[in-house]
Amino acid sequence: MTDSTAKSRPRAGEGAPAARPGGPPAAGKGPGPSLPARIWLWFAIALLVNFFATRLLFPPADAPLVVPYTLFKEEVAKRNVQAIYSRGESLTGRFAAPVTFPPPEPAGAAPSAEAKKADRVLPRRGPPRTASTFETTLPAFVGPELETFLIDHGVEISAEPIEEGSSLWTLLLFGFGPALLLIGAYVWMFRRAQAGGGLGAGGLLGIGKSRARRYDEEGGDKVTFDDVAGIDEAEAELVEIVEFLRDPPKFTRLGGTAPKGVLLVGSPGTGKTLLAKAVAGEAGVPFFSMSASEFVEMIVGVGAARVRDLFKQAREHAPAIIFIDELDAIGRARGQMAIGASSEQEQTLNQILTEMDGFSSREGIIVLAATNQPDVLDKALLRPGRFDRRVVVNLPDKAGREAILRVHTRKVPLGADASLAQIAASTPGFSGADLKNLVNEAALLAARRAQDDVRAGDFTDALEKIVLGPARPILLSPADRERIAYHEGGHAILGLVVPGADPVHRVTIVPRGQALGVTYQRPESDRYNYPEGYLRARIIGMLGGRAAEEVVYGTKTTGAENDIEQATALARMMVTRWGMSERIGMVQLAPRDNPFLGGTGGFAGAKPFSERTAEAIDAEVGRIIGESHEEAKRLLTEHRKALDALVEALLARETLDEREILEVTGLPPAPPLDTAIAAVTGGRR
Ligand SMILES: Nc1ncnc2c1ncn2[C@@H]1O[C@H](COP(=O)(O)OP(=O)(O)OP(=O)(O)O)[C@@H](O)[C@H]1O
Ligand SMILES: [Mg+2]
Repeated sequence: MTDSTAKSRPRAGEGAPAARPGGPPAAGKGPGPSLPARIWLWFAIALLVNFFATRLLFPPADAPLVVPYTLFKEEVAKRNVQAIYSRGESLTGRFAAPVTFPPPEPAGAAPSAEAKKADRVLPRRGPPRTASTFETTLPAFVGPELETFLIDHGVEISAEPIEEGSSLWTLLLFGFGPALLLIGAYVWMFRRAQAGGGLGAGGLLGIGKSRARRYDEEGGDKVTFDDVAGIDEAEAELVEIVEFLRDPPKFTRLGGTAPKGVLLVGSPGTGKTLLAKAVAGEAGVPFFSMSASEFVEMIVGVGAARVRDLFKQAREHAPAIIFIDELDAIGRARGQMAIGASSEQEQTLNQILTEMDGFSSREGIIVLAATNQPDVLDKALLRPGRFDRRVVVNLPDKAGREAILRVHTRKVPLGADASLAQIAASTPGFSGADLKNLVNEAALLAARRAQDDVRAGDFTDALEKIVLGPARPILLSPADRERIAYHEGGHAILGLVVPGADPVHRVTIVPRGQALGVTYQRPESDRYNYPEGYLRARIIGMLGGRAAEEVVYGTKTTGAENDIEQATALARMMVTRWGMSERIGMVQLAPRDNPFLGGTGGFAGAKPFSERTAEAIDAEVGRIIGESHEEAKRLLTEHRKALDALVEALLARETLDEREILEVTGLPPAPPLDTAIAAVTGGRR
């Protein structure tokens, strides 16, 4: 089945309302952020302090002494004038030894006749001053004899003005320069901090401001609900939120109130952030988005300040949506961490708790949040009244995957043989992000192959590359290749003969990623519940590689390391978590997996069981593995002919797909499990 309609599917959201109720522009978005008024006062004070400090530390150089012409001539006669410079009537010059003018009166002495005469000739002009430069005015009757007189007394007649103390420019430079520089630097940093949105650009100003992005104001491609597919329950929940913001009375007429908070929970890549963006695109109200980690800073208290600021902004623009991505970064349960970071995180969390209490749902603020780890979140955060709703975003099922593929192949020209349904069927467990990646890889591959469209083969190869890793060009000896072929053949044959086993999709002995060869099995449909028989079949299949090597060569290699690891983990879970051992019974002995991130959580440190139980667990795991190993060897010995045929084909062709495998071995696909349980257990006992 092909899906060429996907390309032309109209985007229903394209006419989505771009208009939104007008509101004042977000704070701090103006072109030139203005300085606080008080800062100008400080600038003025800085300038004054600078000016007077300079005057105090570097008193102005000697101003020239204004002396009468007669005194000038006297000093020349005394040979106390070094140099002069004359221009027009004014004459400046430098004394050899500083001169005090007017001459000081001898203390207490009665004014002498001489002094009286001097008084007459030289009227007092202020207090006496000593200086080594002087200035005087030439009388109009001075003749050329002055020149001879000067030269005779060894006075240099200079061509350049005699230095006259500090100029206006130096005064300005030193009196105001430093303060102006500092003020300039301050203003520059202030601007940077404001414009750059804060700390990254430097400066601590505005550190307590939230740096939430406003999606509704950003241009470019808007995400709409049309871009989200395959997670319909979650989508429906958020569509309702959007409707609520558009038309509150529709929901409140019977006394209900809007939810305050909606928590999106799910595995990575399932589309939580995408859903939130779609809400932003569709809601028609201001949408403040911030990642929880952006609240956190080195400085304690900053996170709380940012939370306050974020909610303040939202309140100013209500109705509005706040989106906090990766909430677990600040929403961790309080009182668990002993390290320093906890106090900042807890303060931030407390602030969120307070803020969410602070607004009523009538205000029209809705908080969306997303996380992978709902179980680490603080209980107070999850209670109704804060995050009333918890929306689980699951991995998409087959139909969902097909829908997601359709979204992401809108702009990709698909070949006639490319069937989205088929691709969806062969990608169980893929998230939306994985599928997007798959489409992209396939498109790149097709482009590299100089095709005009993306064909089924491109998707298969891209899938193989994603799941198994890129092919690795290593040279193997014929003996090694044969051993690898038998190893993979063992897995494949057991995938055909063990009842309930997943169908074998592909076998290859091309080294890929970490593996030297790969047998790719995948379930026919999505599985949510695993019967014991199926798990047993999986373990038997996993051990098939080593079993084949033993049956054929009688020796062992390291090639089975990964198989052994997986089989042991599975067997241990059967015993400790799923109560599948008669001897242990239905007792939980290991923590459950983190449902969204994988890996185990909890149960750190002390084991909640005795050493005797531990021994029993080990014995039971050993028994399951042992039984499965025997079964694998028995089945492979029984089907040795098919195994040899498969190996021969593998050595010749390197990679075989499902059809070829069935053809070469002449075996039917594995029978389903119902008939199987009896067969497996019967066969073993
Ligand atoms: N349901 C979906 N429909 C369409 N595209 C999807 C879907 N889910 C995921 N995608 C694609 O995968 C990308 C990543 O998804 P998203 O960022 O929403 O993941 P997430 O759930 O927020 O993951 P995480 O928990 O790691 O933050 C999206 O940008 C989108 O292109
Ligand atoms: Mg996300």
